Parts: sequence; structure tokens; C-alpha cells
Amino acid sequence: MKQFLSFSGIDVISLVKEALFLKKNPFLFKHIGKNKTIGFVFFNASLRTRLSSQKAALYLGCETWILNIDKDSWKIEMSDGGVMKKTQEHIKEAIGVMSLYCDILAVRIFPNLKDKRYDFHESLLKKIQYYSSVPVVSLESATLHPLQSLADAMTIEEFKPKKERVKVVLSWAPHPISLPQSVPNSFAQCISKLGYTDLVITHPKGYELDDNFINGAHIFYNQNEALKGADFIYAKNWSSFKNYGEIFSMDPKWTIATEKISNHPKFMHCLPVRRNLIVEDAVLDASLVYHEAENRIFSNQAVFKTLLKNL
Ligand code: CP
Repeated sequence: MKQFLSFSGIDVISLVKEALFLKKNPFLFKHIGKNKTIGFVFFNASLRTRLSSQKAALYLGCETWILNIDKDSWKIEMSDGGVMKKTQEHIKEAIGVMSLYCDILAVRIFPNLKDKRYDFHESLLKKIQYYSSVPVVSLESATLHPLQSLADAMTIEEFKPKKERVKVVLSWAPHPISLPQSVPNSFAQCISKLGYTDLVITHPKGYELDDNFINGAHIFYNQNEALKGADFIYAKNWSSFKNYGEIFSMDPKWTIATEKISNHPKFMHCLPVRRNLIVEDAVLDASLVYHEAENRIFSNQAVFKTLLKNL
């Protein structure tokens, strides 16, 4: 592994095993990051990704620096060939210089949710990769959030019931602002690689995800039908892929309410979450969300450790 941007070519089972081992032995590889630096660049806000990544780097003995673009830095120009009247620094120099100051460059850059082709081509992430002289890690890009999904896979592995097949339901839930499809896309991509999950995706009509990510998961437009017999429910809002970035529904019937989970499946969400919109208080308070958030440290650590070993 020379970079971590998606699950393409990634052995998820081995990474999950490694992350679970590191959770029990966080300091065992403290020497691996000696005299190495991971640079964290945030084009968008973060709480968990930023702090869990720093903690993971600390466990590996790495130095870190963080740059919040537009708050801490010059205004960055993303397009090529124009006259820069409103922006101060081009992405080419910004990434070229930042990659001189670190051994791994980890970047969060969200989609614009206006131009599907541009977003789904991962145009900005590709540009960053191109200008970087060191390996790049995605801290969430236009289409994927692989570090989150790896922590979610680790959590499913820890809490799975003792049976051959495990039913995981990914459910759309209402939200007032247009959100990316990155979390559901990478959740579907990652979970199917565990080998023992039956993934069901449920959402109102018009919220179909890109077929390229869902690996033949069963789609239900009826949430109650989808939830029957679920071992895990993963709730998330996303905006339309077909009518790119649009919101069609705020139907409160899709909120994950206590009465919908009478068979006590384990509830998951990546956080941050809007209480009583995505999920009712009582469901959230009995959920796995803190376990997922804690596991962000060790799944990140497994990825950084692998990349540091290969430098
Ligand atoms: N789940 C997640 O990525 O959280 P942050 O956006 O706070 O980093």
C-alpha cells in the first residue's frame, strides 16, 4: 500500500485485524514514525478525523502538523490557467510546498455537489496527488470516506453476533442540508469486503447511490421491510446522485425511531449527527457511536503504520 484513497486493491480483512491488534497494543510500534511527519490539510471542518488521526500518529511516534485551508492559509486557487484576481496561492505551489514538509500528506476535500462529473472524477484529489511528492491519504474526498468505513468495519467485527451471515442495513435519514454520498459509498464498498455481511440499502426513491459503489446490495424503498431482521443499522443522510446534490425529502418517517428497532439491532452512525432528525435520542444513546469514534484512532493507526513501513 503506497497511498490510501479508496478500498480498491485493499485487503480490508487484514487491515481490520491489524487495527484490532493495535487497539490492544497501541504503543508497540512507537519507533516506526521516528523522525517522520504526517501533514494534515483540511479544506473542510472536522472533529473526529482530525483528532483521531493526530492520536494515531502519536501512537506511532510521528510528528504532525495541521493546516486548515481558508482559516490558517492563503486563499487557494483550484482551477488552472486563469488570472488569479481573487485567490492568493495556486494549489500547485501549495501542495508542492506542503509535501516538502512531511512524509505523508493527509487531505480532506469535500465535493461541490454541483458538478457530478467533476466530483465523481475526484478531480481535486487527483490534482493534489499529482502535485504531492509524498504519499496521499484521504481524510474524506468527494466520493469516499475510507478511514471512517474502516473504523465502522472494525466495529462490526467487534460487535457481530455469532452467526454465519450478518445483516447490515444502511438507511437514508432526513437532513435539511445537501450532504455528500461519500460515507454511504465507502461504507458499502468496505463492508462487502468483510465477506460475512448481507448489505441492504434503504432510501426514498430518487436517492439511489452510484451503482459503482454498492456492489449489488439489495435496495428497499420501504424502510420497515428493510429493517426486518437487521443485526446492524447504519443511518446516514445523503443527497441525490441522479439529480446531483438535490434534496427531495425531509420525511420524518425515515428518522430511526425506537419503535423501528424492536429486535434490538446495533445502531451506528459516523457522527456528527442531528438528534431527533436522523435518529431519536434513545436509539442514539444506546448505540455504538462512541465505539466507532474510538476505533477511528486504531483504523487510522493501521493505515499510517502500513504507509510508514513502505516509505
Ligand atoms: N465522522 C467524521 O469524519 O467526523 P468529522 O467530520 O468530525 O471528522
